[in-house]
Amino acid sequence: MPFKINDTSLYHINCLETLGWEVTVCNMLEPEDSPCRNVLKTKSSFGSNLIGFLNRYIPFNKLGSFIEIGGGYGYISRDLLRLYPHLKATLLDISPYLIERQRETLGKDSASFINMDFFETVGDFLSGFDAAILNENLGDFPCACGLDREMLRGGSTATEDCGARLDETKRLINKYGLKLPEGDAVNFNTGAVLAVEKLCRSGIKYIYLGEHSCESEAPGWIADRIKIKPSGNPEKISLNGHDEYTVKFSHMVSVAESYSYVIKRGLFSDFIEFIYDGRMNFILTSNSQKDEHETIRQFIEDIFKYEYLILCRQ
Ligand SMILES: C[S@@+](CC[C@H](N)C(=O)[O-])C[C@H]1O[C@@H](n2cnc3c(N)ncnc32)[C@H](O)[C@@H]1O
Repeated sequence: MPFKINDTSLYHINCLETLGWEVTVCNMLEPEDSPCRNVLKTKSSFGSNLIGFLNRYIPFNKLGSFIEIGGGYGYISRDLLRLYPHLKATLLDISPYLIERQRETLGKDSASFINMDFFETVGDFLSGFDAAILNENLGDFPCACGLDREMLRGGSTATEDCGARLDETKRLINKYGLKLPEGDAVNFNTGAVLAVEKLCRSGIKYIYLGEHSCESEAPGWIADRIKIKPSGNPEKISLNGHDEYTVKFSHMVSVAESYSYVIKRGLFSDFIEFIYDGRMNFILTSNSQKDEHETIRQFIEDIFKYEYLILCRQ
């Protein structure tokens, strides 16, 4: 595979008109009558399940502000503000369409809305926030695809437009001693690693990150019913008008460690808990083609495929 940088920014700026094609876990749980919500122990939105869990690590009642980056329709910030209305909220998103949707969801006066590429934030902008939330967007950030060891040693076959990104990729790999998977043409989540570096450097006290992982494994008790395998190499996911890549979480952990953050890492199933009854057993073992069963099966696979990190500055 020839080297290239997967970059979704133009798609998000110019083409995105719905997230309907991207069935994010958050959006799957949004409708009150969602079949996915119905199988949960706590039958509520993604945001309220997430915040209930984050509370153990992040004292939202004592914080003053947060920033959500890439908030989609704005549901997580909405839920956070419902529970902690004293928080000063800022939502930053590259998509002009989605920033409008966020304004509609939250109400125009309840937060600040910034239409901007996260990688263009400069100076001490991020240091002003007590917490940052990034859910299901790290896979959208630039990914270096088809890297070979010769390129990393110095010999570059990158085209001019990829050159700066290749240099950034090398810098991150060398600076944080990141190990690449075996093979001749591997992928590297340059944007996700750079994002963690940017956030940690800014000194934000609490950071939550969630995304589909290329390192996740279902736990032993359910592993025979969940079709996911850790490849260790970011995998391409083709979506409407753009491709995303799964994220190598161990690389983000290495960066956060080097900034002395305390790290909690786990699967979405830690906070999206579902009821395992006879019906669920049937859905996961029968290969039933009924629409509702397929939706639930996909959702359950997702909550074992997605990982999160909670980073707390000491
Ligand atoms: C798949 S959606 C996830 C939305 C929401 N967080 C959720 O969990 O449903 C990805 C979001 O990240 C935003 N995004 C992608 N690249 C970005 C960038 N470079 N800077 C800021 N936002 C970005 C998209 O516009 C979108 O809102």
